[in-house]
Amino acid sequence: MDDLHTAAGALAAARRVVVFTGAGISAESGVPTFRDALTGLWERFDAQSLATPQAFQDDPDLVWGWYEWRRSLIQRVSPNPGHAAVTTIQNRAPRTTVITQNVDDLHERAGSTDPIHLHGSLFAPRCASCARPAEIPEAIEPDEGRRLPPPRCRACAAPIRPGVVWFGEPLPEEALETAVQEATDCDLLLTIGTSGLVYPAAEIPKVATMFGATVIQINPQPTPLDPTATVNLHGPAAEILPALVEAAWPQSS
Ligand code: APR
Repeated sequence: MDDLHTAAGALAAARRVVVFTGAGISAESGVPTFRDALTGLWERFDAQSLATPQAFQDDPDLVWGWYEWRRSLIQRVSPNPGHAAVTTIQNRAPRTTVITQNVDDLHERAGSTDPIHLHGSLFAPRCASCARPAEIPEAIEPDEGRRLPPPRCRACAAPIRPGVVWFGEPLPEEALETAVQEATDCDLLLTIGTSGLVYPAAEIPKVATMFGATVIQINPQPTPLDPTATVNLHGPAAEILPALVEAAWPQSS
């Protein structure tokens, strides 16, 4: 039996599924990933240097403008068949938890319920000082590299910051704890479109393996998670995931 059907058999039999995603699942919606050569955001921006508290403190207009550009781009794209297949898994498997490193809202817009955002969300801005949640501003024209002064907090007048986790910041405690618990309890974990390079998020598939789960990786490229995976399906998520779901639950899509 080929790898896809082996994976489909495991998915159809699974009682508790975790779907763990990275930027690659949004790539075919037109959202650039971080580390892919040429198309990756980091090729055109030194995004890593923008994704730190120090960068925001040094130049809030540059950092806020960059994140608002990304948010406006995301609001102009749509979920792709990979996101839709994740929603089908949630509807068909007895219990499914979506855990994402992505800060976009494409899982939600594809109908997935309660995804755990390990790295926060572009749709949850908050005050950089008192942490009070802020309103989401009107989207701007997707104009790369535009500087934009962040709005001010209504309570304390400090600048509003993106609701994402920057390098050097801790992940949201409850989100991480829940994600680790779900990875511990699951019997099958799909890791989709992540380079598996950023910790502690990259621990999630390893926790699942450690507790005996079947791990299926979907990625066109090899990653450090290859040895962790029971099955590696090399291809784009928007193609592989719908085929996997169709093979697991024929006539489901
Ligand atoms: N389908 C599946 N995977 C894909 C596709 C696709 N169509 N296109 C690219 N990929 C894969 C790439 O091969 C790569 O392994 O998606 C992965 C994207 O890796 P990264 O750009 O490193 O994104 P990610 O793993 O989500 O990064 C983790 O790093 O920058 C921080 O906080 C940021 O959440 C992000 C974290």
